[in-house]
Amino acid sequence: MTEQLVHFQPLGRKTEARKGKTLLELARDAGVSIESICGSAGKCGKCKVIVRTGASALSSPTDSETKLLSSDVLRNGVRLACQARIRVPSRIVLEVPEESRRGHHRLLASGVEPEVKLQPAVRKSLLSIPPATLKDLRADDDRLIDVLFKRTRIRASIHPGVHGSLPDAIRRKEWTATVTTFRDAEVIQVEPGDTTDEVFGVAVDIGTTKVVAYLIDLRTGETVANESMPNPQIPFGEDLMSRISYTIKEPEGGKRLQSVIVDGLNTLIQKLCERKGLQPEDILEVMVVGNTAMHHLFFGIPAHHVAAAPYAPVVRASLSVSPGHLGLDMYPFGRVSSLPNVAGFVGADAVSDLVSSGLYKDEKIGMMIDIGTNTEIIAGNREKLISCSCASGPAFEGAHIKYGMRASTGAVERVWVDPASGEVLLRTVDDAQPRGICGSGIVDAISEMFKAGMLDSAGRLVPAAGKDRIRKLKTGGSEFVLARAAETAMKEDITITQHDIQEIQLAKAAIFTGVATLMKKLKLRCSDLSRVYAAGAFGTYVDASSAINIGMYPDVPVERIKFIGNAAGSGARMCLKSTKMRDLAEELSHKMKYVELAGEPSFQNEFAQAMFLPHRDLSRFPNHGHVSARGKA
Ligand code: FES
Repeated sequence: MTEQLVHFQPLGRKTEARKGKTLLELARDAGVSIESICGSAGKCGKCKVIVRTGASALSSPTDSETKLLSSDVLRNGVRLACQARIRVPSRIVLEVPEESRRGHHRLLASGVEPEVKLQPAVRKSLLSIPPATLKDLRADDDRLIDVLFKRTRIRASIHPGVHGSLPDAIRRKEWTATVTTFRDAEVIQVEPGDTTDEVFGVAVDIGTTKVVAYLIDLRTGETVANESMPNPQIPFGEDLMSRISYTIKEPEGGKRLQSVIVDGLNTLIQKLCERKGLQPEDILEVMVVGNTAMHHLFFGIPAHHVAAAPYAPVVRASLSVSPGHLGLDMYPFGRVSSLPNVAGFVGADAVSDLVSSGLYKDEKIGMMIDIGTNTEIIAGNREKLISCSCASGPAFEGAHIKYGMRASTGAVERVWVDPASGEVLLRTVDDAQPRGICGSGIVDAISEMFKAGMLDSAGRLVPAAGKDRIRKLKTGGSEFVLARAAETAMKEDITITQHDIQEIQLAKAAIFTGVATLMKKLKLRCSDLSRVYAAGAFGTYVDASSAINIGMYPDVPVERIKFIGNAAGSGARMCLKSTKMRDLAEELSHKMKYVELAGEPSFQNEFAQAMFLPHRDLSRFPNHGHVSARGKA
């Protein structure tokens, strides 16, 4: 019998060719990392493999494949790994081209975290409990509550789940026990002896594309480990709108999305615990932040109202639920808490950004921008706060960009263009040979091309100024050659097409429309902003001057831009460590006004103006001091 294995070359890995499985699923089984920006939705075209042997054992090309791959390319054996399935188990040999291999993916876990006074919601107290005697016939619960109040002034009730272990816990170590309370209101755990040196919690930032979890020692406030993973909901939809439509179309869709994210969190908690020799039962509280849709899907709350006008969330207030309610592996009578939301598209993650940025206490007006598939913007100071959200899409993650990729090994992350010679200098992640371009790279490239006059203010490539870098395509349109075949990992040119430029213009225009709308509401100009806090991975890695040059960030002197990293994660950690901070978050979510851009009469006009490079105010660029006829229309 011939072997029924799928071979992945040149990596030398193989796995059983299981009927019905996609090549991408089998690649994962074999430990082969293939790029899959759209999460197997058949949209990004980044998961290409070349079938060298056994093509007939695979399913026919799907609609996605015929759309993304030309018939010539398909004839040469190229398939999308997320689409091609094993039809007949047989020997299949695949080549995984360099550009489809996923290198080490740079995930931003750290962020600027102002120090907070340690005041966690879970608190342990060591108590000496008066033993039960014939003269002291109080029940165990009364005995415990009395002594807890006497020692700590905490007047708490006892969680019913604790009753089962209570008698043994207080007697096992001669009436010495450690009592854990939640927010000084409820006893959630009683352990024999002294366990006060073990108080752990986990803070989690559930992003649309990635999930980051931090293990916090709540005695010291120290972050002792962090772990991250791509959001496991990605296969159900690249962005939050498509995930919400999945919950509408599929009868059990909401449950399915909840269960995959809970499983994902369980994996992260397990990994964090393994790194520190702990058990998931040692985790007493998990603090979760995420955008409103991620928040609702995690807590099993219907999210479809968030996706349709008037985009009202179901829950604004902070939540605190039992882990069993969600199926989270941790101490069963602990708590899973969240920060509050503000509106359908400004969620707990934005509140968390606000808490860690400190914008809410600034005297002068500033702005916080957290760029993601959805970008949240908050403007104001200690007096007033307004917010909005923009659908900036996944282009900065590399999706819908011809050579786009995430910021992993070989991604071009910085670009310099010499306007005189047209010479291009590149920097890549891990200094590897270029494999593609990530968000910060393409923003740089567009900014540099614009400065060199190779792009006009409408974003059109100007072949006359392109030296030998801009070329016409047979299929129409033109492209800019960023890296020549000889210098790339795949030995083919890496280019930026006119379509790629338009995708970035759409994304940056969405962001700038939000910026301009909030500034208008505040009756201020961008130059009045005393500080712009740039949050999130993209905001951290993108070059601030390039982002200003293309009109994505507000026009402020570059030194006013402050990078605060994964601010949502920082805010979640701060609020896990301090009940005062979570009360502040609740207050801020009430105080912050929300502007729904879709409801703004000037939205279309603002958006059209923001499509220009940098936008309609061209005074900063004397060489581009005209607005094209198309722009004037
Ligand atoms: S992962 Fe296959 S097309 Fe996106």
